[in-house]
Amino acid sequence: VAAPAQQQTRHYRQPELNDQIETVLDSLKIADDQLVHIMHLLEAEMNAGLSPSTHDQAVVKMFPTYVKNIPTGTEVGQVLALDLGGTNFRVLLIDLRGNSRIELTSKIFLIPQSIMMGDGKQLFRHLSECLHEFMLKEHILNTDVCYPIGFTFSFPCSQEGLASARLTSWTKGFSCSGVVNEDVVKLFQNAINEKGINAKCVALINDTVGTLMACAYKDPATAVGLILGTGTNACYIEQLDKVGTWKGDYDEPKQVIINMEWGAFGDNHRLDFIRTRYDEEVDLSSTNPGRQIFEKMISGLYMGEIVRLIILDLLQRELLFLGHRDTYGDYKTPLYNRGGFYTKFVSTVETDEGIKFSNTRRVLEDIGIQNPTFDDCAIVQHICRQVSKRAAKLAAAGLSVLINRIGRPNVTVGVDGSLYRYHPRFKTNMERCMDMLVNKSIQFKIALSDDGSGKGAALVACLAEGTSWKKPA
Ligand code: GLC
Repeated sequence: VAAPAQQQTRHYRQPELNDQIETVLDSLKIADDQLVHIMHLLEAEMNAGLSPSTHDQAVVKMFPTYVKNIPTGTEVGQVLALDLGGTNFRVLLIDLRGNSRIELTSKIFLIPQSIMMGDGKQLFRHLSECLHEFMLKEHILNTDVCYPIGFTFSFPCSQEGLASARLTSWTKGFSCSGVVNEDVVKLFQNAINEKGINAKCVALINDTVGTLMACAYKDPATAVGLILGTGTNACYIEQLDKVGTWKGDYDEPKQVIINMEWGAFGDNHRLDFIRTRYDEEVDLSSTNPGRQIFEKMISGLYMGEIVRLIILDLLQRELLFLGHRDTYGDYKTPLYNRGGFYTKFVSTVETDEGIKFSNTRRVLEDIGIQNPTFDDCAIVQHICRQVSKRAAKLAAAGLSVLINRIGRPNVTVGVDGSLYRYHPRFKTNMERCMDMLVNKSIQFKIALSDDGSGKGAALVACLAEGTSWKKPA
């Protein structure tokens, strides 16, 4: 019988805080046996998504991507790549040189909130205007070369081919009208044509797929792509005989990359047993209530908000920031507003080691809590740690299901995303948890996939055009 997990004891300068804070934060803890249960649930949802008789009701959609081949590193060609779905929109010109060498130039464009939530036509017009501006700057606009475009569009799409992708729903705060159920490649190609740009969108991929491809370009053991950023999702290489929904060819290789859309895990209430009142509140105030339940417990768009709600709760229970009320008993702080505690603050707060709390102090002063006490800092850091650790454990459970299922002796996971890159402990927390959940016979490796969305889209576009595609001299 395993010994009960050691309770971490914390010491604040006011020791009576210990128990009260722990009681509030208890709801965030996930025990090891619960993690194993979550893994079983996810595997059942995956099978439901892959089977034609249950796919329509399934919440984890497991979309086949039509990407069957992994790059070899010998691909050559010059292609354009577009990346939409995180905080920015990027346009890239990518030179695949063979010998695993890639050169690129890129430009970032902002997508204003008004466009994210406006009319779909307007969105695609905006994207083609950015593309136009970029091609002009790179002197590739008015040549007679028709450039192939690989488009990384990081939203759930049901694909019928590499260049045909129907958006099933918006996620991550986007809600443009007239796009859901439409073919995104067509909408985009129309906008490009209207703008008179000589380019053709030959492939649309998810960011997870780009990440897997870019990582596989360097490491052939890569079989999983993971994003931990504004949103979270994973893709992996599945055997065709397990993909009942597959409508493509059965030529070699008998495998296809599956875009899981794992963010929707829990949308049928299966994860309610680990959800807290903070998760419920985050969900209700989002642009897509009831949707993307797993994503909302993990990713960057929501993490700061969970922390903010817990801080507010402690404040209302008079356990935090006691010395910071004005004469009316009010606090002057953006903590009362939705989005008032950024996810990047969670990373900053967790960079502090020891008891000086210089970063935590800076963050608190930024949000109007001047001269926070030692306990204020220690408690806020503890909240951040619990929230990000829970996220890392959930991501670890998901990844472990994939690695165990793939069953190869060596599996590399390509990862990208702001949360993974900038959070000081996410990677370590996730790996530690995976060490416990992954079958002991499997060696896994987690590799940062640099610029996967861009390079991956270029690789898929190049594979679609045939690997010998070159810009004519
Ligand atoms: C959201 C999107 C998904 C994407 C992920 C990471 O979950 O639905 O397509 O891969 O965010 O960007």
